[in-house]
Amino acid sequence: MSSPDTKAAKLIRKCVIPAAGLGTRFLPATKAVPKEMLPIVDTPTLQYIVEEAVAAGIEDVVVINGRGKSSIEDHFDIGFELETTMRARGKTAEADKLRAIANLVRIVSIRQKEPLGLGHAVLCAKSVIGNEPFGVLLGDDMIDAEEPGIGQLARVYQQHQKAVIALMEVPDSETHMYGIAAGKDLGNGVIQIDHVVEKPKKGTAPSNLAVIGRYVLPPSIFPILENQTTGVGGEIQLTDGLATLQKTEGLLGYKFQGQRYDAGDKVGYLKANIAYALKRPDLRGGLLEYMREVVKTEKP
Ligand code: UTP
Repeated sequence: MSSPDTKAAKLIRKCVIPAAGLGTRFLPATKAVPKEMLPIVDTPTLQYIVEEAVAAGIEDVVVINGRGKSSIEDHFDIGFELETTMRARGKTAEADKLRAIANLVRIVSIRQKEPLGLGHAVLCAKSVIGNEPFGVLLGDDMIDAEEPGIGQLARVYQQHQKAVIALMEVPDSETHMYGIAAGKDLGNGVIQIDHVVEKPKKGTAPSNLAVIGRYVLPPSIFPILENQTTGVGGEIQLTDGLATLQKTEGLLGYKFQGQRYDAGDKVGYLKANIAYALKRPDLRGGLLEYMREVVKTEKP
């Protein structure tokens, strides 16, 4: 039986996962391996994100990939040789786990020929999304939550019939690193956004509510992105498209419940690895023991 939350997300049948960035912060690891395929413990970041979408009831996932991203397609495909060898060696449970990844959900992969920005990456999915609202989950942003992050946003979209973006409070010293939104608090974590700006200069942020990598958007975002000029960093920024959407149709923010990890940042990536490893009974004891030792011996 599906939960009420899952039913809410049913309104959103499709989602886009942009994973075509250059991942320069993780070079040289990302020279040949996409950042989204780097493991958190033993599972690629992207798999957690696809699983979040599936848990929220999403049926079609569009992954935007770029140069050297065929490992993404292979990961979500049937690994026939590997599976057959494992079954022949009696490793049936492990082989079944691999097959489960291939059976997770329908995945379409679209190439972004040049990394022209997040807004451009979302635009690449236009023909597959068509004329319906859809989710966007950034391929390097993880949300660990009881109710899937994108499902929380889908629920707010269903209630208000308006685009919703995930928001998180960040310290004033970090606002220049994010898209920042400000507006009227409607209660229950929902904000009626009246201002959204990409990476404001230090001291100019309109609030400390940072835009995090989950969005539920109407298809009207596509013509907006098509007509948009380049913004910060010479890229087609999704945040600029959201600023236009806010003016034409209105835009909501939602202070989601759960723990977010920025797996595209080295410290965020390490934190995610530790947090997910601590949840694993087979790893927790050994890791805690090592961490206690480190705290005892390392000077600050
Ligand atoms: P980031 O800005 O974090 O990714 O984009 P990046 O550019 O790969 O990272 P660095 O700074 O060079 O290390 C957020 C998400 O949007 C995707 C990225 O793959 C990432 O998952 N993205 C970004 C695209 O798909 N296309 C783009 O043109 C830009």
